[in-house]
Amino acid sequence: MNGSSLRLLCLDSSWLAACLALDRRALDGFWSEAQWQRELAEPNRICLGLVNEAELRGFVCGWLVVDELQITALAVDPDHRQIGCGGRLLRALLTRAQQQGARRATLEVAADNAAARALYAAEGFKTAGCRSRYYSDGRDALIQWLELPPGTGRCD
Ligand SMILES: CC(C)(COP(=O)(O)OP(=O)(O)OC[C@H]1O[C@@H](n2cnc3c(N)ncnc32)[C@H](O)[C@@H]1OP(=O)(O)O)[C@@H](O)C(=O)NCCC(=O)NCCS
Repeated sequence: MNGSSLRLLCLDSSWLAACLALDRRALDGFWSEAQWQRELAEPNRICLGLVNEAELRGFVCGWLVVDELQITALAVDPDHRQIGCGGRLLRALLTRAQQQGARRATLEVAADNAAARALYAAEGFKTAGCRSRYYSDGRDALIQWLELPPGTGRCD
């Protein structure tokens, strides 16, 4: 299936079980159930999903802190990668945050995560620094930044 036929929506608490299941499948259990509950409930956090009927294919989450979007999670189901879902989710989050006043976006990515690094570079993110041995398995994290000038008409 082409990713463009999937529906983009704001995830709320009714998607908790689906988020947990996809998190385990795509990110090896990045967040606990309590963390997902908070992520889906708090108003200053934005969580978007791509859905085929009731099946969650991907999610992206971020926090808006004043004018800075901190992107905290992005994952696509392993069976549905490289058909445009990750890019669509990321652009939708940037657009939503920009509409709410974001002027820059930041995130951390593992230095050896070639797929995610290529995606962020394609969307204009620049590497601004490195956190050495940031992850529990000893991998380095690269800090990524993107400027979002006011009025930029990025679209989904
Ligand atoms: C990173 C991830 C979200 C990408 O999702 P996706 O749906 O496959 O991405 P897209 O199909 O939208 O690809 C967009 C761009 O990303 C890059 N990309 C995606 N997968 C890639 C891969 N395996 N190798 C190299 N580049 C890749 C390409 O630049 C691609 O553009 P192109 O198709 O024009 O070449 C997905 O691989 C994933 O869920 N990975 C595991 C979780 C993860 O690492 N999350 C990021 C944490 S910081």
